[in-house]
Amino acid sequence: MTRAVRRAIETGGFYARERNVTTMSHEDFPTENPAVVTCGLPYANGDLHIGHLRGYIGADAFSRALETLGQETAYVCGSDMHGTPVAVNAEQQGVDPADFALDWHEQYEETFPKFNVDFDNYGHTHDETNTELTQEIVRTLDDEGYIYEKEIQVAYDPDADQYLPDRYVEGTCPYCGEKARGDECDEGCQRHLEPGEVEDPTSTITGNPAEYRERTHKFFEVSEFSDFLTEFLDGLEGTSNARNQPRQWIEDGLQDWCITRDMDWGIDYPNGDDDTEGDDLVLYVWVDAPVEYISSTKQYSERVGKDEYDWEQVWKGDVSASEASGGSEAHGSSGGEIMHVIGRDIIQHHTIFWPAMLEGAGYNKPRGIAATGFITINGKGLSTSRNRAIWAKEYLDEGFHPDLLRYYLTTTGGLQQDVDFSWDAFQEKVNGELVGTVGNFWYRSLLFAYRNYEGTPDTDISAEVEERIEGAIGDVRENVNDYSMRGVGGAATQLAQFGNEYIQRNEPWKLTDDEPEEAAQVIRDCVQIAKAVGVLLEPIAPDKAQALWEQLGEDGEIADAHLEDALEAPPRTFDEPGELFGKIEDERVEELTEKLEERVAAASDDGEESDDGDAETESDDTDADESERMADTDDLEPLLEDRIGFEDFQELDIRVGRIESAEGIEGADDLAKLAVDIGFETRQVVAGIKQLHDLDELPGTKCVLLANMEPAELFGVESNGMILAAGEEADLLTTHGDAALGEKIK
Ligand code: 2FM
Ligand code: ZN
Repeated sequence: MTRAVRRAIETGGFYARERNVTTMSHEDFPTENPAVVTCGLPYANGDLHIGHLRGYIGADAFSRALETLGQETAYVCGSDMHGTPVAVNAEQQGVDPADFALDWHEQYEETFPKFNVDFDNYGHTHDETNTELTQEIVRTLDDEGYIYEKEIQVAYDPDADQYLPDRYVEGTCPYCGEKARGDECDEGCQRHLEPGEVEDPTSTITGNPAEYRERTHKFFEVSEFSDFLTEFLDGLEGTSNARNQPRQWIEDGLQDWCITRDMDWGIDYPNGDDDTEGDDLVLYVWVDAPVEYISSTKQYSERVGKDEYDWEQVWKGDVSASEASGGSEAHGSSGGEIMHVIGRDIIQHHTIFWPAMLEGAGYNKPRGIAATGFITINGKGLSTSRNRAIWAKEYLDEGFHPDLLRYYLTTTGGLQQDVDFSWDAFQEKVNGELVGTVGNFWYRSLLFAYRNYEGTPDTDISAEVEERIEGAIGDVRENVNDYSMRGVGGAATQLAQFGNEYIQRNEPWKLTDDEPEEAAQVIRDCVQIAKAVGVLLEPIAPDKAQALWEQLGEDGEIADAHLEDALEAPPRTFDEPGELFGKIEDERVEELTEKLEERVAAASDDGEESDDGDAETESDDTDADESERMADTDDLEPLLEDRIGFEDFQELDIRVGRIESAEGIEGADDLAKLAVDIGFETRQVVAGIKQLHDLDELPGTKCVLLANMEPAELFGVESNGMILAAGEEADLLTTHGDAALGEKIK
């Protein structure tokens, strides 16, 4: 196993480097090429929540971390204005989609900086740059012969007298049998669905069954790109899900992709002089959305000037120039380092459609794609309709500093893992790592230095501390190259922890009178460690790091510092420092947890019932918790006398999974059909939990699955594995840390 692979497994980070590809640079960062970091565009259709923030904060931290390495980097994004996700919501509110989307876009523009998400450019897909560039790319694909017309069956609602693209129609996924939207199996296997594919279509406008009618649409010949995509994936860096899932789709045979829709809202299909076919069609939203990655880079480049940052070099520069020289080309013509951070539900769009479009239109392809896991709240799937979410505005209104959430989200799990948020866990992390380790070290070191030396003692740092800081810098460098922001945060907090131990071990307070030089040395070292922790932590907690920078009397912005600056001596004098982190009190956590529970209950049907006096479920739950602690062994199955060997245990292939969907099986009182994602694939499992769990609540729940259970058929439904549960109430077994989906229980 290579070091990179091992690290990726350990950290849940990217697979990086150590592979030979022909389409992009694979030198370690920093390279001579400009980098662009992007994050999947938010649909301009509703409030931002913690699920969004995870991606934008993670990508922002990565982009900042690249800059600390000295990598020239732009971080760009924009609002996704088109498509049915926007049109349907706008229609429900009776407003024009353009106004609706623009309102949300403006809100996002204001909200991101409040979380220190510092885009170099934040555009939107409806602006002129993106409209023109999208049409130009589609024209090129057409000129190159990759686009053709075909008659297809399109869902139609006769009552509404309207075609039903994408979210205007719902039905059954032909691949996994789950409930699906017109263009995505959002509750099941997550596959993109082509128009006409969804079975038993129903109009979301009237709720009536939809008809299928024949229409002429434009198709992009994705199937032509199978070989290219296979090679592209061989060279792609990124999370293992983004690298591996698409292989299966390619092996299964790629379908061509319908790129037009019967809608008014969107970018018009570009018509040539003799082309009248496309004049009433708009482009499918997934055509113009990723083009915004390029458009936004272009806008940034135009704003700062091409000499400062050249978007054409990034997206169109000649990558063969750096290949020819073994990747060591040190000039500005060898392409850019394109890195996409996305949610794992949009892997297919970014690893199949997008690179095929880029290849077909003559653009450079991404070097890496990181597909992040989902966010769960108190162990359950985030659900905006059930109000089980932490909203961006709510978090800020509660008065929490953005850097606390940034730290929590980037260091709780690796990129690919699901991250659970609870106010308890948030408190534990903040109080333990930020207050107890980092803040405590910063404050005690700087205060001691200020009181005894009015600042940094006038001496050099010791060899031990220099070496320790160099080691931490090396760790950060390595973690950035392995795309592990968790590792970057870890390197910073471990250095602070070292600082705490160092000051404790050397007890400078006992040395000031009798051994003043030794005392000065210890404090000189501690001030340097404090500064280094700030530099290392800046990508994750930029405001707090800047505040430390100012307390040290440093000029300018810590965001402009490079890793090596961690070893530069801080100014000789500084003012009295203050504490930069405050403890989150227990009462606050109780209050917030209660608030969250109450509003989830209020938003759900069950909650409404219990509001009406049916408090049984809630009190039963509490009783169940108590009985767990006080279990009476007489009621338990006796322990088995026979022992098994470790080898026997190893024959049980037990994996970490996550329930994607759950529904009752008709005719079976107790049985539910579950789709369980175990990293490699999604398994259909039948479980006897229908009466014991609210099936609507289960999607998003992490579980543990015996994967090599013999397949069985129950009530005509195949069960391919067994989820593990304990007790009469089928308490589902789970993992509590950052074990990735598919990891083996051992
Ligand atoms: O799934 C989504 O939320 C889309 N708005 C993401 C678009 S990412 C890209 F292609 F631009
Ligand atoms: Zn499906």
